Amino acid sequence: MAIVEENLPGAAFLAFPGQAHYLGAELAERFGIETPAPPETPVPFVEGRAQWLGDLLYLPDFHGTVFPYWAKTALSKPFLMRFGSIGEAARGLMAKARNWTPYCFTVFRRTELVQEKLPFLHFKPRAFPYEIPHTPMGFYTLLDGNVLLASADTANCAPGGAVAFVEDHTNPPSRAYLKLQEALTWARHFFGVERPHAGQRCFDAGACPGGWSWVLRGLGADVFAVDRSELAPGLMHDKHVTFLRHDAFTLRPGEIGPFDWVVSDVICYPERLLPWIEEWIASGLVQNMVCTIKLQGGIDWKLIDRFAGIPDSRVLHLNYNKHELTFLHAHRR
Ligand SMILES: C[S@@+](CC[C@H](N)C(=O)[O-])C[C@H]1O[C@@H](n2cnc3c(N)ncnc32)[C@H](O)[C@@H]1O
Repeated sequence: MAIVEENLPGAAFLAFPGQAHYLGAELAERFGIETPAPPETPVPFVEGRAQWLGDLLYLPDFHGTVFPYWAKTALSKPFLMRFGSIGEAARGLMAKARNWTPYCFTVFRRTELVQEKLPFLHFKPRAFPYEIPHTPMGFYTLLDGNVLLASADTANCAPGGAVAFVEDHTNPPSRAYLKLQEALTWARHFFGVERPHAGQRCFDAGACPGGWSWVLRGLGADVFAVDRSELAPGLMHDKHVTFLRHDAFTLRPGEIGPFDWVVSDVICYPERLLPWIEEWIASGLVQNMVCTIKLQGGIDWKLIDRFAGIPDSRVLHLNYNKHELTFLHAHRR
């Protein structure tokens, strides 16, 4: 059987595991697109219909170039490929791109066999620090034994569509360290900025118990940590960590800066975080920023647009974020 391809209209978005409802809510509130509820068991693909394929949401009427934050990756030029054999499926994909991430919600074994015929990619968790390659990453899913839905154009280059790290269950004072590791990895990818390193000064706002400070110290940087509560003892005794019990938002940049990095994981309303970020950037006393934007209930999307609109900045949803987004800023040199 010859390979038969058919371009599909619209786009498809992969939800983060367990976060399909956030993706649906964002599409409704931010894009005005109502989406169906995910089915309990896989249902056959129907062309022209908005539908969930496992955690992958296909929207035939989506024509935007801005994608939802809650999409782990986006398939911006979807197509169907009908094939007779596993070898045909692999050859058909390789004719379009070298690197392919599979997503499996049905026909699991056949997907594995297709993937084995494609150039090898490593999908296991990475050791931090890790550099995301800039090579384009295609994405495909088998709809049944002889049809796949794919796109060679996707929203990000990370193998698997997201960054995951080998976890350290012993040393970090909190699991929050994974968010900063991921944010620093994306900051390097998007802005080419060096990771924090020895000789650099970092302000960690809302630092307790110290997962983020632990990452910064692990990279060799000096840390000025501010919280209402102390950090874990190992950090409190570290001579490269200065701890201040204070409200992080009432410390003015001119009193404590300059810093190479200002990072914040403070639990606060976005309305409070935004002017604080603007003040730091306007002061010229910070080079780079990573801030968690904590969200509750309904999201004020106009406010999120103001974070994203700050020059040399980006808002994204990390693999390690739940109901929160992350703001990245890197001063253009
Ligand atoms: C999610 S925790 C931070 C976890 C930390 N990033 C880590 O890796 O372990 C949020 C912290 O923000 C602190 N916090 C809340 N409001 C604050 C403020 N105005 N100034 C300083 N710290 C604040 C809380 O005390 C809490 O320790």
